[in-house]
Amino acid sequence: MNRLDPADGPLLVASHNVGKIWEIRELMEPFGFTVVSAKDKGLVDPEETGTTFEENAEIKALAALEATGLPSLSDDSGIAIEALGGDPGIYSARWGGPERDFAMAMRNVEEKLQATGATEPAQRRATFVAVLCLALPNGERHFFRGEVDGTCVWPPRGTLGFGYDPIFLPDGQDRTFGEMMSLEKHAWKPGQPDALSHRARAFQKFAREALGTT
Ligand code: IMP
Repeated sequence: MNRLDPADGPLLVASHNVGKIWEIRELMEPFGFTVVSAKDKGLVDPEETGTTFEENAEIKALAALEATGLPSLSDDSGIAIEALGGDPGIYSARWGGPERDFAMAMRNVEEKLQATGATEPAQRRATFVAVLCLALPNGERHFFRGEVDGTCVWPPRGTLGFGYDPIFLPDGQDRTFGEMMSLEKHAWKPGQPDALSHRARAFQKFAREALGTT
């Protein structure tokens, strides 16, 4: 694929979600890119009519590319809970309602888990998924998927992060994402092999292929 170069101009992050924009800016920072977001540019969020993370990521990246002409990187993500048949999955944002109330969304998850009798950690398995789509002005599209497995805890723990972070305990960790600073949640810098979060794992692939890191 055509490599991205900071000298070619800014990268547009096709998102209005301040939590994601923050994390992607932080992940891009070591590479010297100027990052602008769809929110900064006042772009309209397209309707997410896809049925997969990939389709929705592509819809968002293409809308941003068409509106600005800039290389655009989108992120479609969510939490898939095994006992709920993979819900909320691609509908994770929508479970927060129009106000994007994730305290309510997390309660909703817990009520549904209780209704299925999922009280033991082994019955409360979940996977965070992030798919990044890079849409380039020359027509190329590239996808990068990252996943991290863990367990849903209750009550929510920690006030850092965003969305469902306070109920997600990644495997091998003793703190939820809500109890980690974003840099610990990523656990990744160029040259390090061990990204932790779904977004950082997707980003690691993006950095290798689109930025040429090792
Ligand atoms: P969308 O990709 O804009 O459809 O929204 C994804 C939704 O999934 C967000 O609004 C969050 O609620 C949730 N989500 C995605 N990634 C994370 C994360 O890293 N932490 C917590 N929640 C997340």
